[in-house]
Amino acid sequence: MHRTNNLRRAYIAGTGHAVPEKVLTNFDLEKMVDTSDEWIRTRSGIERRHIARDGETTGTLGAEAAKRALDDAGIGPEVVDLILVATVTPEMVFPSTACVIQEAISAVNAGAMDVNAACSGFIYALSVADLMVASGKCRHVLVIASETLSRITDWTDRNTCVLFGDGAGAAVVSPCPDGDRGILSTYLKSDGSKGEILYILGGGSRNPASHETVDQGMHFIRMSGRETFKVAVQAMGDAAMRILKAEGLSGEDVDLMIPHQANMRIIRATARRIDLPMEKVYVNLNEYGNTSAATIPIALDEARKNGRIESGALVLLVAFGGGLTWASALVRF
Ligand SMILES: CC(C)(COP(=O)(O)OP(=O)(O)OC[C@H]1O[C@@H](n2cnc3c(N)ncnc32)[C@H](O)[C@@H]1OP(=O)(O)O)[C@@H](O)C(=O)NCCC(=O)NCCS
Repeated sequence: MHRTNNLRRAYIAGTGHAVPEKVLTNFDLEKMVDTSDEWIRTRSGIERRHIARDGETTGTLGAEAAKRALDDAGIGPEVVDLILVATVTPEMVFPSTACVIQEAISAVNAGAMDVNAACSGFIYALSVADLMVASGKCRHVLVIASETLSRITDWTDRNTCVLFGDGAGAAVVSPCPDGDRGILSTYLKSDGSKGEILYILGGGSRNPASHETVDQGMHFIRMSGRETFKVAVQAMGDAAMRILKAEGLSGEDVDLMIPHQANMRIIRATARRIDLPMEKVYVNLNEYGNTSAATIPIALDEARKNGRIESGALVLLVAFGGGLTWASALVRF
């Protein structure tokens, strides 16, 4: 998606994140399913993940991340025009989690809606926010990605339960006050024909929740790991490559890549595809596991606050997820 000249530039004015305090280590998982710390670390790179306590939900984590992002941007909730929440673990089927967070943070003048693009959701929502601000329709858009994947994980399925965690991240998107900073470009793609390699079958219109769907565990994430791995490597690499090419840039121009944190081997393959050394890749999946849409904004907030993103830095965001969806964004800070 290229910017035409009559649009103004939007930028990321503030970020925040919130993760549950409770930690589940690989060693804890060894006591729950037939797995080992060694297997999980070598196959995925994950060592720990944070898990929501009772009462902690996608809404509460998202609201906390949102408040921190607003503080960071130096604006109050009353000036937010639109709240976008990327999630596959909504507070409930409806109302949207965005409405739940709108109330929790008292964003009394905001519209609110959820975006479901699975792990690519933050970049999808960021892309919408970018154009809402760039067109002049909105001034401040709050983009939140919040997930409690622990609530849709089958804790007896070693193929999936070792991979996921809970957390939330948020970004405030506003008109850029100066210079060349801001969201330069976004790239969004999908392939619904491969939807059934990573999905939740039950609880929707096709298989409404019933005793039978629950007995069959259809309310849990199901994943074909090897197939997902293969397409993730291809799609993440493509999303990174294509957005750079479209902007006349290459890996050499990128100061930091913040990839979706699903698997260390997928991250390395994506970096290799654009000839980016791993020193220029932000990784925190060892600490949080895969928090779906939330991985990128959590990492973005950490990277900004621990000095990994200097003024003028070109940051590449790239993600892949169920749907299938994949996406990338180029942001100058
Ligand atoms: C899941 C994943 C880590 C598995 O790694 P892998 O190298 O592909 O491993 P395989 O699928 O070949 O499985 C190897 C064996 O380990 C077993 N295994 C699976 N999970 C295990 C676990 N937690 N502990 C120990 N063994 C496990 C499998 O049953 C398989 O045994 P088999 O060969 O007897 O059938 C990897 O496929 C992956 O990361 N896929 C992408 C997942 C993802 O990113 N999803 C989210 C996308 S947004």
